[in-house]
Amino acid sequence: MRTRIYTGIYLLAFVLALLVSITVYVQTESDYTTQVYADDRLKRALVLYHPSRDARFSNELSLAFTSGLLTAGFTVERATISSDTPDTITGYDIVGIVSNTYFFRPDIPTEHYLSRVDFNGVKAVGLMAGAGSTAGAARLLRKWLRRSNADLLDVSEFWILRPNNETPTNKSNWEVAMDKAYTLGVQTAASIL
Ligand SMILES: Cc1cc2nc3c(=O)[nH]c(=O)nc-3n(C[C@H](O)[C@H](O)[C@H](O)COP(=O)(O)O)c2cc1C
Repeated sequence: MRTRIYTGIYLLAFVLALLVSITVYVQTESDYTTQVYADDRLKRALVLYHPSRDARFSNELSLAFTSGLLTAGFTVERATISSDTPDTITGYDIVGIVSNTYFFRPDIPTEHYLSRVDFNGVKAVGLMAGAGSTAGAARLLRKWLRRSNADLLDVSEFWILRPNNETPTNKSNWEVAMDKAYTLGVQTAASIL
């Protein structure tokens, strides 16, 4: 009996330690990296994202959104969210923020960044990524973007597991998410041209 209790305690401790390690790993901020695409256009967009550590969902969403903005004729700077990301935003016509959901909240690097940045009234869109339960995180992202002085256009949700489309399609759920992020980029750019 006593051996069973000890085995149970060890198992519980192991599962808890694993959960804490995964949580710390996925929430740790990445290095600051930045790339500029089509650096010769009149209109400029900034796309900020916290890279996801497993399937790279948010990375690909940020790329799909970037592609949409490029198609619509923008120069796009795509950068990671970290403590080195500039906190005064000037010279952009649009800012996009791609964040991951962990425990029903946007990831910690996004939260820290949005508590110090000033968007100076620039138009902003949020892309809230997650497995399928992102409504609470999207609400917080809306609130934090407004608090950071962004002129918020919208926050859209993108899912790995929950269907991203209402009507049946031959495409995978992942492809549908990327198509939607691309279209969001095109439409956002078109709305301010
Ligand atoms: C510890 C942990 C907590 C998570 N919590 C949520 C959650 O509350 N809601 C949700 O929709 N997805 C949740 N997810 C899924 C992540 O949001 C999703 O995997 C994320 O977009 C990262 O993408 P990746 O799988 O490409 O790394 C969680 C994932 C982990 C590892």
